[in-house]
This record gives sequence, structure tokens and C-alpha cells, in this order.
Amino acid sequence: TLIRREDYAAPAFWIRTVDLSFDLDPAKTLVTSKMQVERNTAVAHGPLVLHGEELNLLRVLINGESVSFRQDGHLLIIEGAPDADFALEIRNTCAPEKNTALSGLYTSGGGFFTQCEAEGFRRITYFLDRPDVMAVYTVTLRADKKKYPVLLSNGNLLETGELDNGRHFAKWHDPFPKPSYLFALVAADLVAREQRVKSRSGKDHLLQVYVRRGDLEKTEHAMNSLIASLVWDEARFGLPLDLERFMVVGVSDFNMGAMENKGLNIFNTSALLASPATATDADFSRIESIVAHEYFHNWTGNRVTCRDWFQLSLKEGLTVFRDQEFSMDMAGTPSARAVCRIQDVRSLRAMQFPEDGGAMAHPVRPDQYVEINNFYTATVYEKGSEVVRMYQTLVGRAGFEAGMKLYFERHDGQAVTCDDFAAAIADANPGSALASRLDAFKRWYSQPGTPRVQARGHYDAATQTYTLTLSQSNKGQAPQVIPVVTGLVGHDGTALAEQLLVLDAAEQSFTFENIAAEPVPSLLRGFSAPVLLDDGLSDAELLVLLKHDADAFNRWEASQRLALNRILAAVRAGQPLVLDAAYVEAMRSVLRHPELDAAFKELALTLPGEAYIAEQLEVVDPQAIHAAVEAAQIQLAQALREDWIAAFEANQIQGGYTPDPVSAGRRALANLALSMLVLDAQRSGDTVWPGRAYQRFKDATNMTDRLGALAALVNAHAELAESALSRFHAQFKGEPLVIDKWFALQARAPEREGKSFARVKQLAMHADFSLKNPNRARSLIFSLALFNPAAFHRADAAGYVFWADQVLALDGINPQVAGRLARAMDRWTTLAEPYRSAAREAIARVAAKAELSNDVREIIERQLASG
Ligand code: ARG
Ligand code: ZN
Repeated sequence: TLIRREDYAAPAFWIRTVDLSFDLDPAKTLVTSKMQVERNTAVAHGPLVLHGEELNLLRVLINGESVSFRQDGHLLIIEGAPDADFALEIRNTCAPEKNTALSGLYTSGGGFFTQCEAEGFRRITYFLDRPDVMAVYTVTLRADKKKYPVLLSNGNLLETGELDNGRHFAKWHDPFPKPSYLFALVAADLVAREQRVKSRSGKDHLLQVYVRRGDLEKTEHAMNSLIASLVWDEARFGLPLDLERFMVVGVSDFNMGAMENKGLNIFNTSALLASPATATDADFSRIESIVAHEYFHNWTGNRVTCRDWFQLSLKEGLTVFRDQEFSMDMAGTPSARAVCRIQDVRSLRAMQFPEDGGAMAHPVRPDQYVEINNFYTATVYEKGSEVVRMYQTLVGRAGFEAGMKLYFERHDGQAVTCDDFAAAIADANPGSALASRLDAFKRWYSQPGTPRVQARGHYDAATQTYTLTLSQSNKGQAPQVIPVVTGLVGHDGTALAEQLLVLDAAEQSFTFENIAAEPVPSLLRGFSAPVLLDDGLSDAELLVLLKHDADAFNRWEASQRLALNRILAAVRAGQPLVLDAAYVEAMRSVLRHPELDAAFKELALTLPGEAYIAEQLEVVDPQAIHAAVEAAQIQLAQALREDWIAAFEANQIQGGYTPDPVSAGRRALANLALSMLVLDAQRSGDTVWPGRAYQRFKDATNMTDRLGALAALVNAHAELAESALSRFHAQFKGEPLVIDKWFALQARAPEREGKSFARVKQLAMHADFSLKNPNRARSLIFSLALFNPAAFHRADAAGYVFWADQVLALDGINPQVAGRLARAMDRWTTLAEPYRSAAREAIARVAAKAELSNDVREIIERQLASG
């Protein structure tokens, strides 16, 4: 059934306290829940309706007496609940080891773990499982002591002790009222890295990172990231840790990255464990950002939570914004900050733009859903973060901090809406560019789609004025408030002005005075709004920006636009791509530039992603896009060969591994150079660089270099790649997270003659492959269907047949993960023939299956409806 935002109603009852006890057993766990319940006198008198799924109900008592109830689907309905406050006791069992959906209470690696957001708590016990019902939890865990020596739940540990039959117990109490989605428990054989810290207020805290015995040495980076997050949130937003104990736990079966349960964050091991030998620079930075993200939720999400799930971006958009700001501050130098911003925008364009144009397009605050798990999306998270960033741009950094302060003054301890957040930021900044346009600004929450902005400049030499005309459109919807941070750059590189232009009408002109010569406009600096920009700039003007723009983001953007223009022209013309000297020389001067950072060079010389290229086209031929990108790569490899050699040699790092941005940037550039040199060896017949790549693969002392060299071989040297791949597998067979990389690398290999696709099908039968572990499923199947368009979109439709089979198989195991895989077909309507018809057929085949989860059904039906 469809849930609508406009149908929100406050609950008929409040649950004030919960006393939960668990007798943990993998096959059958007994749950006893004793609740203090109150009628909500503000709403009409009604029955008590509790949620429960996949549970076995044993008894229901009100004030100690049994009471009549009925069960209707996933609801438990008690008509005769008293008017006065009462005690409700429920007993039920659940079956953690059968819970392959990994929602609720489940087993993984012989331990018990929970995931309750969004609606997993109802798979543990009957409850008002909605975020506006906040209760104080006391939790007693009982379990076999040998198998489950560590027993954890939210808050503070009150008591532990021994029981009969080799069992033991622990009792926990969380003093902060919280919604059920923030409940967590862990019972497993784990060890912890511990650190005591003092916050600025002088309070002592115990930080713990719990993992399996062998993984302890891989937790140092996560602990450092946690400490840095704590310090940063106090310094930037004045938000301290409010708990004596803060625990983080790793688990290898997990649907997402991590979860912010109060005081007991649970992490996918892929977002927690790192050592130089097993994790890449990208892993180190992803871990830092996810540890921070979950920690920051303690205020933005937990202390102030969401009234209902339509408000998800209230906590997610804001918390992504906070983790992005944190990562930039951690990066340090202006240029390292720009690299962070570029990476965030690149992923927004790769993931969110296609989403906003496809079958699942939805506003940042959705108006309806069938399955809320389908709305943990790039739109709610990443576009939501861009919306928060626009608030900051419109009111300034200090104004935004004042707005945050007011938000917590008003709403600490409450479950609120995106409107409450908007009001707090605006009220703290009366007279700001935001406050005067608040209603129009809030269209960012209600209107889906990526606005297209067009900009055209006109220079008048007689009056020495420059007039910029900006216009916007988004599928006929009302104009949005678009902050356009603008600079004017002289052809000789002089910086003329930087201003915040606020575009809030369909079309507006802005005039700059005293402009001595025609400038080049540098628009949307720092990517100041999540829009598609058509600035009409010529190659010559883009070259000026690439050379001189003071804004590093727009300098990078110029490099991408130069490449994009060429790729699109070739694809549109149906002609092979031939790179011109002007572009090649521009890239050469970036690569040779004495001052630019290695990290920036690597980003500028990396071509736009195939998904982003596809977004620029009305009709998409994934093979044509891939062919153009490959041709560009091959030509850059050849034309810049000497420069690649120089870049490779100049970026070797002596000494031990550290994941700092400067070293990571140098490794990234060296890896790109190496892959270009191995690619060019295909043409020239050179054996030196493939040999060097193999040697580097064998001798590498860190995973970034090893995987970079392996990727270069997999990309362009079939023979050495085989030997390297089997060596890699043998070396890391005891490291599941590294074996995931082994699968992913092969599944993402650039497609040539159908070999990548054939390999994926073969790997799906590998002894190490399993659909049951989400990381493994993602490493192979998602890598193909979501991240390797040329291997996936085949004229013979075999990719789509494979996709349909895998979606159906996965749906029987884990609907949430199946729903994600289903999304590979979101953009099928834009495909050229024969892809389009074949895609439709595959979608229809999935739709025809009678028993589909809500998760997959909703996505498939939206895909069919979009055609
Ligand atoms: N709140 C978590 C985070 O972003 C994600 C939980 C997602 N859960 C889900 N069932 N989709 O930090
Ligand atoms: Zn989050």
C-alpha cells in the first residue's frame, strides 16, 4: 500500500518506557517487552495498534491481565486499552538465524546483531514502530557466555552476572528517550580497541571499537576518525558527546554502510576496518567520513529526530552535509578541500542526477512511498546535503551556525520536520537572502528533477558593463532559488569580481560595472547549486578558466567540459572520436604544471563518468559512449606518453604509508599514469611498462598501489592480468573485504568483446561467491549492472536476463538489497534500440513474478510506469 505524507497523523498512544529482555538463541529468541503506555489525548479515541512482522506472539497483558486482541496482517490491534496510563506486556519469539533480510535481529558470523532503521524493530517485537514515538529503554540480554561473551545495547551498562547452564546476562539503560529505529543490541565474540577522551567541557568518555578477534589492528583508523569527529563537532557547532560510553561495532553482513543507534553504532566492516595492506586510500577516506557521519547523527538524527519517514532528509541531508564539511576541514589545504568537493560532486552527478531523471525520481522530501527502504537514496542523502549547503551559502557560515544553534534550542528531544529546520535557519537570519525567499527556497524539498540553468553574457565596451542573463527550467515546475556564486576572469587571468547571484525567477539579468575588457564568467563556483549548467562557453573561454580560475572546482570543471564536449560531439555524430591538439595540449599543461597538486591533476585528467555523459543525451547508446571514452583514453595515453612517464616517476613515495590527502593524491596520479602506460603498450607493443606494472603489483607495500597496478593489467594486459589475479586471490583468501575487491575489479573491467560480462557470469559460480552476503553481492552483481554500462547493456540482452535472474534470486533472500539491484534499470526509457525493448522485456519478466517483495515491486512498477 501507498503511504502518503499528507496522511500523517499523530499516534493514538505514546510509549514512555520499555523494559526489554532477550533470551538469545539463534533458532528461537524469546523477547519480553514491558511498556508504560499513555493515551494521546490530543487525537481521537482509538484502538492501540502495534506493528509486528515475522513474529510468534505468546502473550499480551495489560496491567498484568490478559486482554483480547486481534491480528490483522502485520498489525496487532487491542480495542479495549484503558484511558488511564497502563502497563503493557508482550512476549514473543523471533528466529534470528532465518533472518536473511538482515533487518531486525539476525545472526552473522556466529553473533547476534540488529538493524532497526527504518522499520526493523517490528521484526523484533510488537511496538509503535514510528519515529515520533520516543521511549526510554532498559534492556537485559541473556545468552551463552562462551559463544557470546560480549553483550551490548544502547546507553550505560547497569549490571552483569552469571546465570545457570553456562549463560550470562547484561543489563543496559539508555537515559535518552529515542524512537525504536535507534534501538540496537549485539551479542558476539568480539574484542575492543578502547580510548578514553575528555571533551572540552571536561567530561570523561570511553570510546570503544568492537570487532572480531583478528581484526583489532585494523581499527586504529576508525578510532582516530571517531576522536577527530568528536573534537570537530564541539569546535564547529558546539555539539559535545552526551554519553559516558560510545561504542562502535563491526559486522560483515550489513545492508548499508552503517547505523547511528544511540551510543552503539553498528558498521558494515567495509566501512570500519582498514590497514595499509588491505585498504585503499579511498577506503581510508570513506571510513573517516562514515565514522563521522554516524557520530554526527547523535545530534542531527538522535537528539533531534524525524517526525515521520518523509522527513528522512532532515537528518540524512544535514548529516551528509556535516560529514562533507568535516572531511574538507580534515583535508586541510584549500586545494585538498577542493579535491573533496570535486569528489562529492562527481558522485552526485553519477548517482543522483540519473535518479532525478529516472523512474524513481522523487523530491528531497518524498510525498509518497510503498517501501521506505527504497527512499534511502542519493536524492535524500546527497541532494539533501546540497540543499543544506545552499542554506549556508545564502546565510553565510556564521549565519548557518546561528541557525543550527536555534534549531537545537527549539527542538532538542523532539521529532520534527524539514519545515522546522528551514524555519530555524531563516529565523536566526532575518533579513538574509534566505529569509526573504523562504517559501520559494523550500521548493527544493517538493520539486523533483535537476533544474537546468542557462547563462549568457554580454559585454558592452562603451559602458564598460558586463550583463549576465540567467534562466532556469525544471520540467515546467515553478522557479527555484538558485545561489550562483560567480566570478569574472580576465582573458589574461586577472580576477575581476566574485559575487553571490541569487536566481529566483525564470529569467534574470545581473549587470557588473567598471569592467575594462570582456571577461569569462566563472559560474556556480564550488558547485553552489545542484543544477545542470549550460554556460555557452567556447573552448577558448574554457581554456582560460582551466588556466586561470581562482576557483579550483571550476578549474576542474573546465577540464571536464572540454572532454565532455568532445565525447558528446562524437557520440551525437556517430563518428569515432579524434582528439584535437588544443585539448591534448591543455591536458599536457595540466599534467606538467609545476604548482598544481597531484590529486587535482588526477581528477582533471580523468574523463567524465559514463553515467554522467548519458545524462546529457536524449537517446543513450551505452556502447557508443563507452567507445568514445575509450578512444579518448587511448589517445591521451599515446599523446602524453612522455608526460605520463614523468608523472609516474615524480610521484613515487618513499617511506611508510599514510593516508593523508597529499600522499593519496600522488598515489592516485601514479596509478593513473601507470594504467595509461600499460594501455599505450597495447598499441606500441612495449613490454617494459606491463612488466613494471606486474612488478609493482607484486612488490607493493600498500593496497592502493597493489590494486592500482592490478587494475592497469586487468584493463590492458590479459595475460599478466590472469597471473596477477590468481596470485592476488591466493594472497588474500583470508580477507573477505579484499576478496570483494577482487570480484569488483573484474566486474568493473572495461568491456572488450564481451569478456567482462562472460567473466562475471563465471565468477557468479565461484566457490567464494554468495548472494547472501550483501558486500559480496554488491562486489560482483552490482558492479556489473550499476557500474559497468558497456558490459551490462548488450545487444543480445544477456546482461538484462542475468539482471532479472539475480533480482529474483536476491529478492528471496534480502529484499532491501534486491531493491537496490533492481534500480539498475531506472533509466531504461532513454536507451536506444535494441537495448530499450530488451530492457522492457526483462523488467516485465520480473514484474510477472507473483511473490515479489514490496521493495522490488515498487521499483519495478515505477520503471514500467515510466515507459
Ligand atoms: N541511517 C543510516 C545512515 O545513513 C542508514 C540506515 C539505512 N537503513 C535502511 N534500511 N535503508 O547513516
Ligand atoms: Zn545517515
